Amino acid sequence: MKFKKKILCIGAGYVGGPTMAMIAHKCPDYRVTVVDINHERIDAWNSSELPVYEPGLAAIIKKTRGKNLFFDKDIAGQIKENDIIFVSVNTPTKTFGAGAGMASDLQFLEKTAREILKYSQSSKIIIEKSTLPVKTALAMERILSSAKGKISFEVLSNPEFMAEGSAMKDLENPDRVLIGSRETISGLKARKELVEIYARWVPKEKIITSNIWSSELSKLVANAFLAQRVSSINSISVLCEIADADVSEVARAVGLDSRIGGKFLNAGIGFGGSCFKKDILNLVYLCRFYGLPEVADYWESVVKINKYQQERFILHILSTMFNTLAGKKICILGFSFKANTGDTRESPAIYITRRLLAECADVVISDPKAMGNAALDLADEAGEISYIKNPYEAVQGCHAIAILTDWDLYKKLDYKKIYQSMVKPAFIFDGRNIIDHKKCFEIGFNVYPIGKPGLSHFKNQPGI
Ligand code: UDX
Ligand code: UDX
Repeated sequence: MKFKKKILCIGAGYVGGPTMAMIAHKCPDYRVTVVDINHERIDAWNSSELPVYEPGLAAIIKKTRGKNLFFDKDIAGQIKENDIIFVSVNTPTKTFGAGAGMASDLQFLEKTAREILKYSQSSKIIIEKSTLPVKTALAMERILSSAKGKISFEVLSNPEFMAEGSAMKDLENPDRVLIGSRETISGLKARKELVEIYARWVPKEKIITSNIWSSELSKLVANAFLAQRVSSINSISVLCEIADADVSEVARAVGLDSRIGGKFLNAGIGFGGSCFKKDILNLVYLCRFYGLPEVADYWESVVKINKYQQERFILHILSTMFNTLAGKKICILGFSFKANTGDTRESPAIYITRRLLAECADVVISDPKAMGNAALDLADEAGEISYIKNPYEAVQGCHAIAILTDWDLYKKLDYKKIYQSMVKPAFIFDGRNIIDHKKCFEIGFNVYPIGKPGLSHFKNQPGI
């Protein structure tokens, strides 16, 4: 079959895999290929055990793989072969040298640009999908502009706004698709080509275009604003606890103001995930670099509140359980950074588990999808950890439960049965405010939500 467009994606991760699956699904006349330096990952994409769990992803892969969606190991050959190349390699926070702990590590991106340059035999459109510091396209362009002969490259920015757990829904029905380009004749032509792809299923008014720097910066700013909302409500949650207010009621009242809106106002143990912290720190670094310390401090406080929220959750468990956790068994329900994903990157559960272990608690970890990742994250821990997937088995003989992920499953558990199998007095610390607190209290638990009065059977003990 002759395909209308030939599209390549370098980087078969959480972003590259699902995004390309959606393009292949919506554009059966395009050939979409995904390559990765990690051959095991490519093998996994070609197997029945996909490396990424997303509701709806497996069904689309089944429909498209081998027809117009291919996962391949030959990076050089595929660069030669394709005209449109998405770059979706990881851009983690730098761990060394200048900007360590804050700036983005762009080595993979630069290496990829050099490979594209090395193997290309014709002109191509290169699309930045990875989240990057503003002005990264300039570095890309500079590397690619050393191409010999008549070959030229047009660099576009097309940041991905999908969230994990709802990736396929977000990709199918995005709030917007953003495409940034140089505003030159060739830049606008390349932009049009990319608009054409998305226009196959996204309404035209939702495909917005901008200059390339606005596009790069918008991704960082969108994530910073979302994270800032979570930190804002979390900062209020502690005040609610002291003032006997209820953070859910406050969030509802505030969110009903149409100028504010109700989303991203759920108080909890803080945000995790591969993007929020990384992107804010990147923004902070950029602001410091450009001599804007006040702006940098403003955004850094979002990350500081996030850490504070996790630490205060731990200290609260400690003080409520009579100031010692040594030898006590605590069951962590939920280890992924949010529901509907097995991803544990930057999950608050990692920090909280490590702190519980530092208090010499025995920790039992349970999660429907993240057990493998949890074991990898905690591989260096010497403390007492067990991994038990079935929540009813996991809680047996425990002194306390800490709910750390908002999995639906935990709302529906039989807490009466759970209570019976635990050591008394039994505690629940609901780090996501998802269970019926009153009902659990009536069963016999001492229940401690976030940002609401605790429900305690002890005389004279204030809730929180
Ligand atoms: C990544 C970035 O982390 C994020 O900033 C960006 O918005 C999108 O791309 P994600 O897909 O979640 O997000 O990362 P990850 O799952 O780590 O996937 C990146 C893939 O790129 C990995 O499979 C890695 O093996 C691959 N890679 C990395 C290459 O193929 N070549 C490289 O040189 C480096
Ligand atoms: C985020 C952005 O939403 C997405 O647009 C971008 O492309 C990648 O980064 P993601 O990290 O997958 O997506 O998840 P998201 O739903 O944004 O949640 C991030 C974290 O915030 C999770 O740990 C979640 O539990 C937490 N959160 C979210 C809250 O604590 N309260 C809320 O009200 C919302």
